Amino acid sequence: MYLLSIFAAAILFMASKALAEIEPTASDNLRFFGVWLGASMGADIFRFQSTLIIPAGSPDSNTLGLQAVWPGLQPHSQQYVLQNVLANGVPGEWLLEPYSCCNPIAMLVPPMRVYPGDTLTNTFSLDRFSMQWQINWVVIPGPVGQAAGEVSFNGGLNFDLTQYDNDNATIEAYTSSMFAIELQHGGQWDFGPVSWRDILLEINTTDTTWCKSGPQLQAGSFHWNYSTPVASPVDNVVRCYIAEMNFESPI
Ligand SMILES: *[C@@H]1O[C@H](CO)[C@@H](O)[C@H](O)[C@H]1NC(C)=O
Ligand SMILES: *[C@@H]1O[C@H](CO)[C@@H](O)[C@H](O)[C@H]1NC(C)=O
Ligand SMILES: *[C@@H]1O[C@H](CO)[C@@H](O)[C@H](O)[C@H]1NC(C)=O
Repeated sequence: MYLLSIFAAAILFMASKALAEIEPTASDNLRFFGVWLGASMGADIFRFQSTLIIPAGSPDSNTLGLQAVWPGLQPHSQQYVLQNVLANGVPGEWLLEPYSCCNPIAMLVPPMRVYPGDTLTNTFSLDRFSMQWQINWVVIPGPVGQAAGEVSFNGGLNFDLTQYDNDNATIEAYTSSMFAIELQHGGQWDFGPVSWRDILLEINTTDTTWCKSGPQLQAGSFHWNYSTPVASPVDNVVRCYIAEMNFESPI
């Protein structure tokens, strides 16, 4: 329940002003460091994949603070977001928590423990027959996870937004991918660099400039870089590949 309200507050901060009634309060102390990548309104995302190297555990013993890292998808209206959230549990612990946010907020499956140095590959893909989304995750343990007895695992679900929408908002296509660090209630970015690998975004367009321009800063002031994006247009779909993107540290 706690996560429910804080995530609802969180994402709506980035959403439209029409949803102001559930915007976060000052006491949420919400902060983001994030970038987005997308083409334009009407250029729909078909597939979004990225691999997150699970960062170090936070040394912070403040259990009230939220620290989260997530890749996600948003429609042009920014009314909702589909996000595979990596969130802090007890101090030093990371949990994988796929969410639909925020009207209402819904954790889609129970939290899954992951460890620093694991690779987490998140895939969101649109099935164009049913027009429903498939969300998948694959976790490969690193040395820390292996030492803790973790074995590789994967999972997934079909996501039908109509099942999670409590105000019957218009169901829109996703047009932006997002990469975010989200902090609330005094949580700090004290877990070191966050590394994304093998970013792959497929969009319904013939335009390649959005890919070549690279991810765009959305929130926060931080050191980050990414390798040269490669745009491959095939049959009215542009596949954009970025080998690595690094969120180094806050400024
Ligand atoms: C949304 O649609 C469902 C099914 O048509 C209906 O039962 C429900 O009352 C609607 N909710 C709102 C908030 O309009
Ligand atoms: C893809 O683009 C075409 C042409 O702009 C559009 O008609 C269509 O709805 C888009 N989305 C999907 C999911 O095909
Ligand atoms: C990003 O910056 C880090 C730290 O300076 C560096 O090690 C890395 O090679 C850079 N990567 C790219 C893709 O520019």
